[in-house]
Amino acid sequence: MVKKVDIDTIVSFCKRRGFIYASSEIYGGFAAVYDYGPYGTELLNNIKAAWWREMVQLNDNVVGLDSAIFMHPKTWEASGHIGGFADPLTECKRCNSRYRVDHMLNEAGIAADEKMSEDEINKIFNDNIEKIICPSCKGRDFTKAQKFNLLVQSNLGNMSEDWPKDPVYLRGETCQGIYLNYKNVLDSTRVKIPFGIAQIGKAFRNEITARQFIFRTREFEQMEMQYFLKPEDETKEYEKWKKTRWQFYLDLGIGEENLRWYKHENLVFYARDAYDIEYNFPFGFKELEGIHARGNYDLTQHSKFANVNLEYEDSESGEKYIPHIVETSAGAGRTMLAVLTEAYQEEEVNGEKRVVLKLLPKLAPIKIAVFPLLKNKKELVDKAKNVYEVLKQKYMCEFDDNGNIGKRYRRQDEIGTPYCVTVDFDTLEDNTVTVRDRDTMDQKRVKITELENGFTSLL
Ligand code: GAP
Repeated sequence: MVKKVDIDTIVSFCKRRGFIYASSEIYGGFAAVYDYGPYGTELLNNIKAAWWREMVQLNDNVVGLDSAIFMHPKTWEASGHIGGFADPLTECKRCNSRYRVDHMLNEAGIAADEKMSEDEINKIFNDNIEKIICPSCKGRDFTKAQKFNLLVQSNLGNMSEDWPKDPVYLRGETCQGIYLNYKNVLDSTRVKIPFGIAQIGKAFRNEITARQFIFRTREFEQMEMQYFLKPEDETKEYEKWKKTRWQFYLDLGIGEENLRWYKHENLVFYARDAYDIEYNFPFGFKELEGIHARGNYDLTQHSKFANVNLEYEDSESGEKYIPHIVETSAGAGRTMLAVLTEAYQEEEVNGEKRVVLKLLPKLAPIKIAVFPLLKNKKELVDKAKNVYEVLKQKYMCEFDDNGNIGKRYRRQDEIGTPYCVTVDFDTLEDNTVTVRDRDTMDQKRVKITELENGFTSLL
């Protein structure tokens, strides 16, 4: 389906319906940081749970990890982040707005990326300068592109006067915690190559421009899996994980026509292959997840910098080697933005606009809403509360007796609740309730005693 929703509609919907708020709003906001509200937290948790199920629960040889945000500073030297984790920055000389040069060039239809050297990107920038315009003030005079390091520094535990000589960083990606624990996992569990370590957690980056809502933020969550394998199996496993990860998004209800592959042409020297899965966001196709065949670069680097042998010894053949790695790296927030974009729909019902979030039930923040028909009829309220108390033991439910029933349905439609249960006067006679389907708006009478089983098969 071709999407019609624009990003401003999504942003205001998310605030109005308790999904996402700008950080520190009462202090005037805090750029490129967002907070997840009550329904947003549920949706994000459901996305993360779906990822965990897919990657850890259903794969016998993938185990989970929850490593710390802070790591030894040498981690980032070994990984290449201190030397190379930088985006090309330019400043408009007229209004002082800052931009990523690669993004400006891309928007003007010119190929460039953040991996290019300062000289390379400046040459392309200069050659095409007449095509570049400041989005803010429409000026055309920019400073030379300079590489700006994205790592976020902290002063953790550093009481010395010469700080920040040896700064500690907030992790820029979660996978480094996986590499640092590869040997611990190998030595303390029964995994054997090939095996994966999966982790969900926060990462921090000093992003230069962060204007696309939760698409690019300075604090965000990653869902990463590193698959350790025999060098000769890298291509085969890489293809397998590409398929698995593509299917994951279809299983979240994302239309295949809104997904596409992007092949990295400009590979870093150690990478064997690199593709991104891109989603058709309201602002166009952009990266959702990276799937990279990384060779043995990561473990070789940590082995060198930590002076520790990270070779794997095959217990049967006795063969020793540094495992190669296939990485799958997705953003939880980006996945949520894709899911919201896909699910958000506006329809006309009886001449009125209905906003409905057509989320798959497994992702819906609230699975079932329970209403008494009238708020001021104690028998109805008591009965509805009983139904609610039973259902909430199994599902995330909401009780609502506020406003007319039509408004209550609309409120649940907007937050994506697949089913509403209404207790009315007939219920008091025959112990049946109305079950309403969000998508079809059909209503069915169901015996209270059959609700639980019915929802087990529906949800
Ligand atoms: N370990 C590999 C790695 O971190 P990446 O392409 O920099 O690769 C992986 O990030 C994923 O993390 C991206 O595909 C995206 O979904 C998410 N991500 C990266 N930077 C982000 C940001 N500033 N805000 C939100 N999500 C981000």
